[in-house]
Amino acid sequence: MSEPSRTEIDALSEAEARAEMPSLIAKIEAANTAYHTHDAPEISDAEYDALKQRLAAIEAKFPALKSEQSPTEQVGGQLAEGFGKITHAIRMMSLANAFSDEEVTEFDESVRSFLGLKSDAKLNYTAEPKIDGLSLSIRYEKGKLIHAATRGDGAVGENVTENARTIDDIPTSIADAPDVLEVRGEVYMSHADFEALNSRNEAAGEKRFANPRNAAAGSLRQLDPKVTASRPLKFFAYAWGELSAPLAETQIEAIARLQSLGFQTNPLTELCDGPADMLAHYREIEAKRATLGYDIDGVVYKVNDLALQRRLGFRSTTPRWAIAHKFPAELAWTQLEGIDIQVGRTGALSPVARLTPVTVGGVVVSNATLHNEDYIAGRDSKGAEIRGGKDIRVGDWVQVYRAGDVIPKIADVDLARRPEDAVPYDFPTHCPRCGSEAIREEGDAVRRCTGGLICPAQAVEKLKHFVSRAAFDIEGLGAKQVEQFYEDGWIKEPADIFTLEERYGQGIQQLKNREGWGEKSARNLFAAIAEKRRIPLQRLIFALGIRHVGETSAGMLATHYGTWDAFETAMTQADCGQGPEWDDLISIDGVGETLATSVVTTFQQEAERASIDRLTAHLSVEEAEKPKSDSPVSGLTVVFTGTLEKMTRAEAKARAEALGAKVSGSVSAKTDLLVAGPGAGSKAKKAAELNIRVIDEDEWIALAGGA
Ligand code: IVH
Repeated sequence: MSEPSRTEIDALSEAEARAEMPSLIAKIEAANTAYHTHDAPEISDAEYDALKQRLAAIEAKFPALKSEQSPTEQVGGQLAEGFGKITHAIRMMSLANAFSDEEVTEFDESVRSFLGLKSDAKLNYTAEPKIDGLSLSIRYEKGKLIHAATRGDGAVGENVTENARTIDDIPTSIADAPDVLEVRGEVYMSHADFEALNSRNEAAGEKRFANPRNAAAGSLRQLDPKVTASRPLKFFAYAWGELSAPLAETQIEAIARLQSLGFQTNPLTELCDGPADMLAHYREIEAKRATLGYDIDGVVYKVNDLALQRRLGFRSTTPRWAIAHKFPAELAWTQLEGIDIQVGRTGALSPVARLTPVTVGGVVVSNATLHNEDYIAGRDSKGAEIRGGKDIRVGDWVQVYRAGDVIPKIADVDLARRPEDAVPYDFPTHCPRCGSEAIREEGDAVRRCTGGLICPAQAVEKLKHFVSRAAFDIEGLGAKQVEQFYEDGWIKEPADIFTLEERYGQGIQQLKNREGWGEKSARNLFAAIAEKRRIPLQRLIFALGIRHVGETSAGMLATHYGTWDAFETAMTQADCGQGPEWDDLISIDGVGETLATSVVTTFQQEAERASIDRLTAHLSVEEAEKPKSDSPVSGLTVVFTGTLEKMTRAEAKARAEALGAKVSGSVSAKTDLLVAGPGAGSKAKKAAELNIRVIDEDEWIALAGGA
């Protein structure tokens, strides 16, 4: 869309305003309909914002021209801002998956082993359908609905309170509830409602939703609650967040309590005696799946005793006390039309299958990952067969599957239908983008472009990573904009983002003439960039895009080093495989040799290093948060030895880590505390020599607050 010809508001006469307003209003209304009703925006948020700002400015100058029905007065006016954010009082976790009966048995074994329960000790689980919708957390205070938020990234979700209020299954006030009650569950759409909605949309010439999950998500995330109200959403409660008083002592009673408070809970929730019983219930639910009238994608098992759930606690993103047993993925046959090679930020050449589009589980699939060249060849580097050793050739009929939200994969190849002229795939030995040699390191299945920063594909992918949500997260600068700026030569590396205004501030004129940009959005972008000059250490380390350094490991590095200076100095001085800086790096729990080598070599590469220095010159890096300091063991390095009698080693370790302590396997000068049970041997001796405090299990429990 081109920008309307604009006279500055100050210079606008009333006659000009009168002439311009109807077209402005028409554009805003068309954009509203496209966005709210069709879920298919036709103009960018920035353009929409600019239109609305102009209308508001004209109305402010000529109040007599403003109508009561003006779009500036309508709900849903915060389109540009989107939803507000809500920080969850307690993080919203996801679930680990099991795909086979064996994995369910292993789950039971791991729970028993963590808790130190014998294999014949009684241990109950609940089993209930896993609803395929989107999760929602609803907060009640003194029985009144206060707010409702989507899961978001688990820590912060979107404020969808007004939309949640329109859902019949969600009470807006509850009698006899604890003062603080956060109810969590799944928003979903029934098959019947989904079909009816799609028929309605189709009759009105609007787009169909691909599946009920998308329809539910699109409906809940509507900026206009009136639209949500017109969409038939439902809600099953299955969990909770913050509570001022416990709901019950067991999962099954807690669910019953949620039901008595006025929530819908799933009628197929059952108490099971152990794995055999759980698997039997899984089969029963699977058999009913087609007739339930709503989508489910597996069965969730949860330890029934809530005291045991507390002891089991959480890994970084999933509880130890629950698992989702997924149904087998749906399969479909289609033809492989070609193989495209994508180049990632670390130079990895990733082959992607181009497929004749086919519907799998309600979603049209037109490409699938082919992982790497061994995968295409049907044998891994050790010679082990993949898909029975069948290679994949262009022209082949292949069977594709989707499991949850993951990218489609290839399950099988039909050799009987292989075209006669199909030839084995020749994996490129040079980068398709920059022509540099692409090599495979020993033991690595991935072939990588050696072009480094000179490879445009790597540079762009690095930039996309840099601005991504868990990294710098710059409003208005997403993957699409980064690509555009890169192509124009305005941003070649992360540091360029922070000199953009200095170099192109005057070029706003140039920017605003491009699709998706107006003067306001350009100014907003500069403001959003300026805001991110101050950045938490963890985000910066993650944003650098160092191979093997994900969000979690970036967090561990940040916590360990505390400041950018300390991290940078240590990495500059570190040698791979030796020396005190290397030993210190490798001593971090969760940092292995592969990750450590990758970080150290990044700082050794001159070009990379110079690029990092250019970037950090523009930043003020916040110190990492210290580990929880409200516990007497936080920040301490603890070693457990001998036999623990009241808890297992795994439980003791998890508890110590949850309290901010670091657990190490061996005693050294860095050890602060040795917890020694009966039978402690050489470690206790060494601790005594080093004058390290030694306590027994009971003293540890007193210190760490028991189980
Ligand atoms: S329990 C701390 N129960 O599945 C555990 N989740 O893959 C909280 N889901 O994010 C989740 N049905 O959105 C639980 N009966 C059920 C569920 C369920 C669907 C969703 C939920 C979660 C996702 C994890």
